[in-house]
Amino acid sequence: MYISNLLGIGILLANFAAGAPTNGGSKAFFYKGHDISSLKMLEDGDTQAVFKDTARGNATRRAEDILADGGMNGVRLRLWVNPIPGQYDLDYVLALASRLHAAGQAIYLDYHFSDTWADPQHNNAPVAWPTSLEPLAATLRAYVNSTLHAFEDAGIPLALVSLGNEIRHGMLWPLGHVDVEVEPEDARVANFTGLATLYKAARCGVDDYVDTSSSTQQPAVMLHMDNGWNVTLQERWFSSLTATGLVTPADWDVLGFSFYPFYGTTATFENLATTLDWAANAFPGTPLHVVETDFPARCDGEDAPELSEPDIAISAAGQTAWVRRVEEVVKAVEGGVGQGVWYWEPTWLNNTSLGSACQDAILFDQDWSQYPRVTGYSRSSVDMFLDSV
Ligand SMILES: *[C@@H]1O[C@H](CO)[C@@H](O)[C@H](O)[C@H]1NC(C)=O
Ligand SMILES: *[C@@H]1O[C@H](CO)[C@@H](O)[C@H](O)[C@H]1NC(C)=O
Ligand SMILES: *[C@@H]1O[C@H](CO)[C@@H](O)[C@H](O)[C@H]1NC(C)=O
Ligand SMILES: *[C@@H]1O[C@H](CO)[C@@H](O)[C@H](O)[C@H]1NC(C)=O
Ligand SMILES: *[C@@H]1O[C@H](CO)[C@@H](O)[C@H](O)[C@H]1NC(C)=O
Repeated sequence: MYISNLLGIGILLANFAAGAPTNGGSKAFFYKGHDISSLKMLEDGDTQAVFKDTARGNATRRAEDILADGGMNGVRLRLWVNPIPGQYDLDYVLALASRLHAAGQAIYLDYHFSDTWADPQHNNAPVAWPTSLEPLAATLRAYVNSTLHAFEDAGIPLALVSLGNEIRHGMLWPLGHVDVEVEPEDARVANFTGLATLYKAARCGVDDYVDTSSSTQQPAVMLHMDNGWNVTLQERWFSSLTATGLVTPADWDVLGFSFYPFYGTTATFENLATTLDWAANAFPGTPLHVVETDFPARCDGEDAPELSEPDIAISAAGQTAWVRRVEEVVKAVEGGVGQGVWYWEPTWLNNTSLGSACQDAILFDQDWSQYPRVTGYSRSSVDMFLDSV
């Protein structure tokens, strides 16, 4: 299955490369993506969001078209299991993915395996799912198979799927919770058994889908960690997971790391490079991505956090500078396995802090003069992925 998936990725990447006009044809495809999961909600809700392209005389355009002109070639979309209807449920994500596929974007499906946010602080199993391990694993496996078929049935090829979101503390809590600080090591490995069982079940769900799929494009399977700057964490975490004997490196095709400037001053480019070079050596040939990043255009006041790269200006130009440095680090990984950089939620006009203590890390200025409706004016940073910027 690993071999056939690798072949699948090869075909997939060849297809995207052939269809990507800016790619020159010969270089490996490099993803320059944005996570725009909230976009449709913002357009459909009271906010009735509209986007203006300031580089084109404030023309009203779809956000994805403005971002595509700025170099975007892929979109990342989160999927929740049984959320409040309309919040990243399957119908919502299918509708948005269908539109973005039609616009020529590669689609990266980000499974949260939860009814709401999944990250290191929240990663609860869906409320309606079984509460013992084997039945939960079976439900998860069937869910992955059926949701992947739903994308195929809707005519939406998936380039990437991540099995869980930022799973440093595991996923599908409580059964899939992990703690990397547990000592001694054998106790830590035991602590990883639930997560390993569940991750493997999700991976088998992808394989079940591939076995019954008639599509020629199969998704690359990603495992997604946060704190991409902390190599000690990554080493311990991956060694604990694989020491269970339940998951091997053949169970992921691609690795993704989150890397933000405002959750600790050790999140430096140098430390990111250390982690990515470690991963390139530990798992040879595995493509690596920074799958979540962003940078503030505004970050002041008493609660403003100290940023990890203080030389980069807090501004739209700084947003571009940050992402371009991240891209350089990813592209410089040993063996050339760096494969993508993804900016988190650049269009979220009514939630601009993006979970940080900074005021605004999105890529559009907001005009609320028609409240509750909102208009977003593109900043220069919408062009962050252009080679010439
Ligand atoms: C943003 O707007 C959407 C759609 O109108 C709404 O559902 C959501 O609650 C708003 N978010 C915030 C943080 O106000
Ligand atoms: C675009 O809109 C912004 C914000 O309203 C305004 O400051 C700017 O002058 C407009 N530009 C053009 C070319 O109309
Ligand atoms: C995966 O889903 C397909 C389509 O619904 C189904 O035919 C197949 O039996 C499923 N595979 C397993 C192992 O359940
Ligand atoms: C890095 O991760 C290790 C292992 O989880 C942890 O003990 C350490 O505190 C982390 N380093 C920083 C700077 O947070
Ligand atoms: C705004 O974003 C933060 C995380 O970035 C999230 O926790 C919160 O739920 C969001 N608000 C809404 C209404 O979606």
